[in-house]
Amino acid sequence: MPVVEWSDIYLVGLPDLDEDHKRFVAAIAEICAAAESDPPEDAAGLLKRLDTLIEAFARHGVKEERMLSLLRSPAGMEHRRQHVAGHSRFREEVGKVRSHIADGGPAPGAVGELGVFLMLFELIRSDYDMVGLLRHEGLLVGDGRLVEGASRQDFEP
Ligand SMILES: [Fe+2]
Ligand SMILES: [Fe+2]
Repeated sequence: MPVVEWSDIYLVGLPDLDEDHKRFVAAIAEICAAAESDPPEDAAGLLKRLDTLIEAFARHGVKEERMLSLLRSPAGMEHRRQHVAGHSRFREEVGKVRSHIADGGPAPGAVGELGVFLMLFELIRSDYDMVGLLRHEGLLVGDGRLVEGASRQDFEP
């Protein structure tokens, strides 16, 4: 059984983000399986997998941070600060795992730090809160698209 597994309880209701989250969970399960197989995958293979995850998460973070930039209420602004900090922490921690492997550390030891990857589930909960705040501020229409004006004016990088 994979160490982490997708469940629809993690859906946040925005299909684009949900698809990314599913892919991240699958990628993490594959990284852990590759690191813990006997023999473990070599460092180059693990680094390639981690780099793919890091790049995909960076693109995902940009998408979400643009959405967060639309929030204007005090609660929304506070959420934005915490949410962006959560993304940075995740990037930092995954970066440490990467450095450990790149420096020749034993792969299972590094990737065995499952806590790092489990942070993803905390981040998804934060996304769920973001969606609630976007709705509360009238920035999402019923089926989860951003309202037209918001996407035109504010969605530029
Ligand atoms: Fe997310
Ligand atoms: Fe997020």
